[in-house]
Amino acid sequence: MAMLTAFWIFLMAVYVPGGGGQQVQMDSSKWGFVGSQVELRCLFVNSNPPVKISQVTWQKFLNGTKQNVAIANPSLGVSVLPPFKDRVSFKQPAVRHRTPSLEDTTITFSNLRLSDEAAYICEYTTFPAGNRENMVNLTVLARPTTGMSLTAPTIVARPSNRKVTVATCLSANGKPPSMITWDTRLKGEASNQETRNANGTVTVRSNYLVVPNRSTHQQKLTCIVTYRNERITDSVILNVLYEPEVTVEGFDGNWFLNRQDVQLTCKADANPPVSVYQWKMLNGSMPNNVEIRNNTLIFKGPVTNELAGTYVCDATNSIGTRSGQVEVNITEFPNIPQLGGDGIPQEQQSSGAAIGGAVGGVALLGVAGALLFIFLRRRQRTFKGDYSTKKHVFGNGYSKPGGGIPAHPPMPKNLQYPEDSDDEKKPAQIGGPGGFEGSDRDYDGEAEDLKRPYFTVDEGESRDYDERTLAFQYDPEPEIADDMVSQTDGSVISKKEWYV
Ligand SMILES: *[C@@H]1O[C@H](CO)[C@@H](O)[C@H](O)[C@H]1NC(C)=O
Ligand SMILES: *[C@@H]1O[C@H](CO)[C@@H](O)[C@H](O)[C@H]1NC(C)=O
Ligand SMILES: *[C@@H]1O[C@H](CO)[C@@H](O)[C@H](O)[C@H]1NC(C)=O
Ligand SMILES: *[C@@H]1O[C@H](CO)[C@@H](O)[C@H](O)[C@H]1NC(C)=O
Ligand SMILES: *[C@@H]1O[C@H](CO)[C@@H](O)[C@H](O)[C@H]1NC(C)=O
Ligand SMILES: *[C@@H]1O[C@H](CO)[C@@H](O)[C@H](O)[C@H]1NC(C)=O
Ligand SMILES: *[C@@H]1O[C@H](CO)[C@@H](O)[C@H](O)[C@H]1NC(C)=O
Repeated sequence: MAMLTAFWIFLMAVYVPGGGGQQVQMDSSKWGFVGSQVELRCLFVNSNPPVKISQVTWQKFLNGTKQNVAIANPSLGVSVLPPFKDRVSFKQPAVRHRTPSLEDTTITFSNLRLSDEAAYICEYTTFPAGNRENMVNLTVLARPTTGMSLTAPTIVARPSNRKVTVATCLSANGKPPSMITWDTRLKGEASNQETRNANGTVTVRSNYLVVPNRSTHQQKLTCIVTYRNERITDSVILNVLYEPEVTVEGFDGNWFLNRQDVQLTCKADANPPVSVYQWKMLNGSMPNNVEIRNNTLIFKGPVTNELAGTYVCDATNSIGTRSGQVEVNITEFPNIPQLGGDGIPQEQQSSGAAIGGAVGGVALLGVAGALLFIFLRRRQRTFKGDYSTKKHVFGNGYSKPGGGIPAHPPMPKNLQYPEDSDDEKKPAQIGGPGGFEGSDRDYDGEAEDLKRPYFTVDEGESRDYDERTLAFQYDPEPEIADDMVSQTDGSVISKKEWYV
């Protein structure tokens, strides 16, 4: 308060014009938001020796032209001119008195508009001193409307590596203009654009561009609008769709003969999640003692040399299909683990073979039990697998529908063959309950084949189809008549063929 008083005294000392000492006191500038109200101060001070105030006039001064706003006259009263009539009033009721006091002619300016921005002059007409005036600069501010939006709810990662706008931040019709910045760990760039409106407001738009890919998925993007000394922030999380990134896990480089319980798992990072996994061998055919469970290839029984080869997993989502692969080689004996990495403890290495045999036997029993369980369960349930098989698989007669203990595991659900496979149209080469017809087979591996405990694919034919694939489809299958099975080509075959 003391400071302020001192300031005023200083001002007066500086401003005192020549002899009179009368002074019109005003603020130098004022501001208000659109729609708000401001007070424009005007005081006639140091009226000593007393002067007669004959009129006070408020004027708007813009672009070199003056426009009357309000007039207070001691004998004629108060007049507020039309464009300001409803929004401008003298603050002191004494201004309107019959014998008015015109020392304080502060006006109240309400419901501000952008067009009200101007200098306002308060002019005192006095006798005998003459005219005294001062002015205030009124600035009208407009709060912007701000918002942030994603360009699209989901962005698809394309191989093109092109930057695309993923989000837009907007500060519309602000005065003074806002500044837009971004806060994110994404490596992208912002592109800002300013539009000046006729009414003096400015619209600022900022686009954020990134190369959408896996690493941009789920990243947070924050827009910071700085308006005067205010910070307005808004965030979004990007949802990037990308094709699967595939790896095949499970091969530890130590698949030795007779090892049990080996499997390969197809791991895919994908958005949306993978809907179909397909397995195939790069060269040659899938071993026949393999079962597909979701994205896992489970090898039944002990490791044999036949498992060697390159396994390829194709993972598909709505964006695309990508492959992963692993080259499996089979060793005769276990590798000595460097640091006990493969689960075989160091001290058991010496007696590894014996223990391995014993363990193998036990495991075999376990597997047989599990197979029996699975088989019985499968028989109880409706078959839910994907019967997209294009080639017939048949057993060797060791197990029959409804007969005895099944000696084979559930057969691979989905054996897929190329569209050009013509043998699918042939009559089923299915062995009857007594076994398959040896006469149908024209290759010399028959004797060996008979020794196999499991069903087998006709290898004489399958050699022609390197592209055989095994697939598991997550999408629920449409319900089909109980013992009919739909084929990918739209046909339907009897499921009975499958349970030989
Ligand atoms: C008021 O504004 C005018 C121009 O708009 C400028 O020349 C003048 O210096 C300003 N006065 C003050 C006190 O800011
Ligand atoms: C003020 O003058 C400038 C040019 O001198 C003109 O462009 C502008 O429209 C004028 N504004 C008003 C409110 O008359
Ligand atoms: C200023 O102009 C813009 C564009 O014409 C308009 O959208 C906005 O509402 C105006 N602002 C005010 C406060 O009149
Ligand atoms: C994704 O794109 C960003 C650039 O936006 C790049 O820095 C990053 O290496 C890319 N990541 C992958 C996995 O491609
Ligand atoms: C696998 O087959 C491709 C052609 O189909 C051939 O170029 C390649 O040498 C084969 N690889 C092996 C290991 O047999
Ligand atoms: C396959 O995966 C689904 C979920 O992804 C799971 O509910 C189901 O139990 C899995 N089936 C098998 C046989 O692992
Ligand atoms: C078997 O595969 C592993 C890993 O792929 C490799 O390190 C090793 O050298 C291969 N061994 C033979 C005999 O090819």
